[in-house]
Amino acid sequence: MCGIIGYTGQMDALKVLLNGLEQLEYRGYDSAGIALLSSSSDRLLVKKAGPVATLKETCQTLDVESHCGIGHTRWATHGGVNDVNAHPHVAGKVTLIHNGIIENYHNLIERFGFQDSLVSETDTEVAAKLFDYYYHGDPVEAIRKTIRELTGAYAFCILFEDIPDQIFCVRNVSPMVAAHIDGSSFVASDVTAIIPYTNRYFVIPEYQIVTLRQDGISVEDLEGNPREPEMLEVSWNVEAAKKNGFPHYMLKEIHEQPEALRNTILPRLRDGLPDFEEDGIPDDLFRNCDKVAIVACGTAMYAGMVGKALMEPLLKIPVSVNIASEYRYESPLIDEHTLVIVISQSGETIDTLAALRLSRKYGAKVLSIVNVKGSTIARESDYVFYTHAGPEIAVASTKAYMVQLASLYLIGCRMAMVRGNFDREEASQFISRLSASVPAVEKVLAKKDKIKTAASLLAKAQDAFFVGRGLDYAFSLEGSLKLKEISYIHAEAYAAGELKHGTIALIEEHTPVIAVATQDHIYGKTLSNVREVRARGAFVILITKCGAEVPEDVCDLHFSVPVTYDQFTVFPVAVILQLLAYYTSDMKGLNVDKPRNLAKSVTVE
Ligand code: M6R
Repeated sequence: MCGIIGYTGQMDALKVLLNGLEQLEYRGYDSAGIALLSSSSDRLLVKKAGPVATLKETCQTLDVESHCGIGHTRWATHGGVNDVNAHPHVAGKVTLIHNGIIENYHNLIERFGFQDSLVSETDTEVAAKLFDYYYHGDPVEAIRKTIRELTGAYAFCILFEDIPDQIFCVRNVSPMVAAHIDGSSFVASDVTAIIPYTNRYFVIPEYQIVTLRQDGISVEDLEGNPREPEMLEVSWNVEAAKKNGFPHYMLKEIHEQPEALRNTILPRLRDGLPDFEEDGIPDDLFRNCDKVAIVACGTAMYAGMVGKALMEPLLKIPVSVNIASEYRYESPLIDEHTLVIVISQSGETIDTLAALRLSRKYGAKVLSIVNVKGSTIARESDYVFYTHAGPEIAVASTKAYMVQLASLYLIGCRMAMVRGNFDREEASQFISRLSASVPAVEKVLAKKDKIKTAASLLAKAQDAFFVGRGLDYAFSLEGSLKLKEISYIHAEAYAAGELKHGTIALIEEHTPVIAVATQDHIYGKTLSNVREVRARGAFVILITKCGAEVPEDVCDLHFSVPVTYDQFTVFPVAVILQLLAYYTSDMKGLNVDKPRNLAKSVTVE
């Protein structure tokens, strides 16, 4: 969480920082701040609780000429949301911004006697104090000594008052990238803040010290040896990260799903069959495993639930889905015969990363499904299956979920071929059905009005329930997460048969129940559960396959998806559930793209 940016060069630093913070705001929006240095005047520090817009407004009156500075947008961990706890933090000659958590900060306060001089409640200020404590004119030495004392995750950008044109950076776990072009050097939490200037960048290696100067960037390890970082290129441009006429990023990203699906599926098809040669993923990976463990958080984990419901009956081996934040502290029953599939849009989620590292320690092979190229999870995995959704800016994940699903379907199909569960014809039929999901998604996008009507009813609700069985239950979990995270309506998903074991007590007159019933073999069973809640006054929105027989008295609103085969209904169903959440949030006048208390990239535990 938290977005950080640093700039030194010929341009107006204030402008670069404020523009960068706007791009990074999805990482946290509790407060924002900047610090500017120049050789002719004192350090200038502005920090404000609230979004970047508040900081921008405050900065309008500034009359400053600076070409070097740092900026931060915060997702609060230690200390409340106020001006004082906002970054940058200052200690003596040091001014810094931080993304991460210093776990031993209490201990450091005591050991170094910082108690009486701290002004904020943050762990970051303690780090600033320590850098200053060790700073006697040699920044690199101060950084080396300080990080030896720190436990936790961090990405720091540090200014030293007596070196007004340079920025020093170091990181452990928390992401940070850097780039240089024509007299300008940039550092940021991710490339979105840098792509207006260049699409070539590098990921700052952990525990290496990076110095940004106007004329270039140098990297050295902790022993002082110069290092040459690996340069990467982003394939999307600044336009891809804009709203393109949509009122919100979320709506734009929902509409980008057909293209994202095509970009993820088509390059992996050879003669109508999945082929991962270009991804460098060998068939032996699939042949030599006796179980699959999927690990992820949030939406990515719910994509994994769909993956399990698809893969287990297909491959006839155990497939588990694991919440990364739990898994990382367990002793998972995995070994060198386990294929661990890690799913992450950002590739930076700290719990998922820790779960990946644990899996590798146990000898398992890790295949990650990741959207952000060059991210930490991608770099640390044995194999990477990149999704091609392009940048996802809205906090609520939509297109990333869609392509995670498509990836799991492709992987499931290839595994089934390699392991003899599918012959070529069956695999080819499976892929044709997967490809047909793309027009099905497009058809749902073309008919949004009815979804708006449903949303206007949901917007008045306090609670909502999503029910389904089998695959439909897996889709419902994601539907309920989408609704609660952006509309603040309490929403829960239940396996439809489980309702009468307690939850049905919550159903009252007009309680919305969104029932997903797209699986033929359990259709009648789900409808019976729907009748049970309807009999108790629930307002039922039913989603079925087209052509399903829907008795008149079973629901209040009915949506059907243009898909014939049960295994593939998730793609259009997901769009209905996403739009339902989107319009509900919008009708309630909420901040759709940046819901309260959340951040896009969860890089703290
Ligand atoms: O970047 P990741 O896919 O690892 O993120 C995992 C979750 O934090 C993420 O999916 C989250 O649940 C979304 N905001 C939900 O819309």
